[in-house]
Amino acid sequence: MERLQRLVVTIDGSAGTGKSTVAQELAKRLGTECLDTGAMYRAVTVLAVDHGFDPTNGKSLSTAIREIGIRFDWKQKPPTIYLGEENVSQRIRDLEIGNIVSVVAKQPEVREVLVEQQREISKTHPLLVTEGRDQGSVVFPQASVRFFLKADVEERTNRRLKQLQDSGSKADTEEVRKNIETRDHIDSTREDGPLVCPDGAIVIDTSKMTITEVVDAMESEVTALLNC
Ligand code: DC
Repeated sequence: MERLQRLVVTIDGSAGTGKSTVAQELAKRLGTECLDTGAMYRAVTVLAVDHGFDPTNGKSLSTAIREIGIRFDWKQKPPTIYLGEENVSQRIRDLEIGNIVSVVAKQPEVREVLVEQQREISKTHPLLVTEGRDQGSVVFPQASVRFFLKADVEERTNRRLKQLQDSGSKADTEEVRKNIETRDHIDSTREDGPLVCPDGAIVIDTSKMTITEVVDAMESEVTALLNC
């Protein structure tokens, strides 16, 4: 267990801080995989929306997750995510899903199943970079390198807009900003696994940093630790 957690690198932070991009890049530099835990909450939201489950009914959602199954295909770079046999990697990025995902992520029964699955996934990766909201605080509190990213709302809105546009989705600035602010509020005020800066985490404000600068800073922290 100690060895397992020694080799987990956690990256937490709110939407649009650049978490996913830097986490993938860091994992690539370290020659390992990146676990996108937001993708798992989004996949459960696809389950609710596309399969007709009430997003506030955590109990029936958690049963459905166990029955249908969520898994990553680690052979793909970045890994693709499946809900049962369906590749939902594109679908999870739809604004419709982004608008509801916080409600689903608030359900303790859903969090319980996904936290359990995240810990299982870490057992099959000798070195894992994992990103989300609760990775350093709840899921892997013993991980030796824990990062917390933050950035201005303006900057985060622009980044999310670009991401949506690049993936061919229509996006309205105000709608994206509201979506980010609402999610921040729900994520940081929920009772179970709220977005908090884990004690002892390395805080990086990415507002005025390039992706390369953020990854450089993280890589030097991780390699310093792995080499000692
Ligand atoms: O990082 P993201 O935007 O893809 O996350 C989607 C949602 O899932 C967001 O509302 C926060 C939630 N989430 C969470 O509650 N816990 C995590 N470990 C990861 C994401």
